[in-house]
Amino acid sequence: MTSKLLITGASQLLTLRGRVPRRGKPLSNLAMIKDGALLVREGLIAAVGPRAEVEALPESRGAEQIDLGGRVVLPGFVDSHTHLIHAASRAEEYELKIAGARYEEIARKGGGILNSVKKLRAATSEALKKRALGALREFAAHGTTTLEAKSGYGLNAASELKILALHRELTREQPLEIVSTFLGAHAVPAEYRSRTGGASSYVRLLTETLIPEVGRQRLAEFCDVFCDRGAFTREQSKIILNAGKTHGLVPRVHAEQLTRSGATQLGIQLGAASCDHLEQVSKADIRALAESNTAATLLPGCDFHLGLAKYAPARALIEAGAIVALATDYNPGTSPTVSMPMILSLACTQLRMTPAEAIAAATINGAYALRRERQIGSLEVGKQADLAVFDVDDYREIPYYFGVNTCCPTWRNPL
Ligand code: NIG
Ligand code: FE
Repeated sequence: MTSKLLITGASQLLTLRGRVPRRGKPLSNLAMIKDGALLVREGLIAAVGPRAEVEALPESRGAEQIDLGGRVVLPGFVDSHTHLIHAASRAEEYELKIAGARYEEIARKGGGILNSVKKLRAATSEALKKRALGALREFAAHGTTTLEAKSGYGLNAASELKILALHRELTREQPLEIVSTFLGAHAVPAEYRSRTGGASSYVRLLTETLIPEVGRQRLAEFCDVFCDRGAFTREQSKIILNAGKTHGLVPRVHAEQLTRSGATQLGIQLGAASCDHLEQVSKADIRALAESNTAATLLPGCDFHLGLAKYAPARALIEAGAIVALATDYNPGTSPTVSMPMILSLACTQLRMTPAEAIAAATINGAYALRRERQIGSLEVGKQADLAVFDVDDYREIPYYFGVNTCCPTWRNPL
């Protein structure tokens, strides 16, 4: 017997139907239906529209019914940039930062990413999994139904493969969909820093051993590089991302976060799915993004957590026609949050995006950034019934309230 579910009582049903990806003015098109309903069959959307129309469909007969009692319903958030697997917080560095130490300074002294690498290498798979499961429950509680997860706190074969295996295990064992990214090029590990030519030999480890193995075992869909001062140069990033492409991994880049490295234009040339961060982009970078099919993923949680004044130029990017997406960048060093609603609040107040633009950037454009726009990111017939339900009267209240969670339990593929 096929299982069917009729969901009614959506005072505002934000379908996000329309052009994909969203650029410019259409970014604020939420395609809202007042008093909407959805018919879900086997986890897929079978019908969507005004309540009276969906209820009257012959297919709706015999369906189990849920009345949401006048809540706001939207596609589950697609969080297209997270560093899900890590062993512990870096609260000790938080205090140093508050006292005035800069992120790069802490990293140079062996803190930062390498601090998390030390902790991860010492952690068991079980402990990492337990921590990730706790985070995943919180992601879901805040409305996320799909998230990307990057490796990058292992930085040797055993630990990087351990992280990627966990991505696979977790996606099978809990309801959120996890999209796996290989980020072996997150930092040059300590054991390679001490010798001359160490960075080049680590790049060789990545391109000659790790990337081929990740590709062979299909442990990731994407290959990412942190291309910045203190991490990888533009030339090294190009070599790594090209090796990824050879082994079936689509590029994405941490670009122009701390300095303008030229990573954005490199990413675009290589056909990257997204360039992320972008605080330091130039006018030419903005133009290049607008003319490309690469998503510009903004991560305002980082600037907020680091106490930085300079956020990415969201308005200029939107007005130029770039494909703007929003994500949490959940990680212990720069953005320890799982809350997409908090990211929407920051997008509105700090990036000057409207609530509608922020919602589209966190759903349909996030799905596009993960190359999942055919399956998720909007509520349309044939797509996955991945929903976020908010106990508010108006969608603008999702970013308006901050520091409280107005999301009701979210579900993915409810049947
Ligand atoms: O996206 N920029 C590089 N990677 C992370 C930070 C990682 C860390 O500090 O642990 C980011 O901000
Ligand atoms: Fe990141």
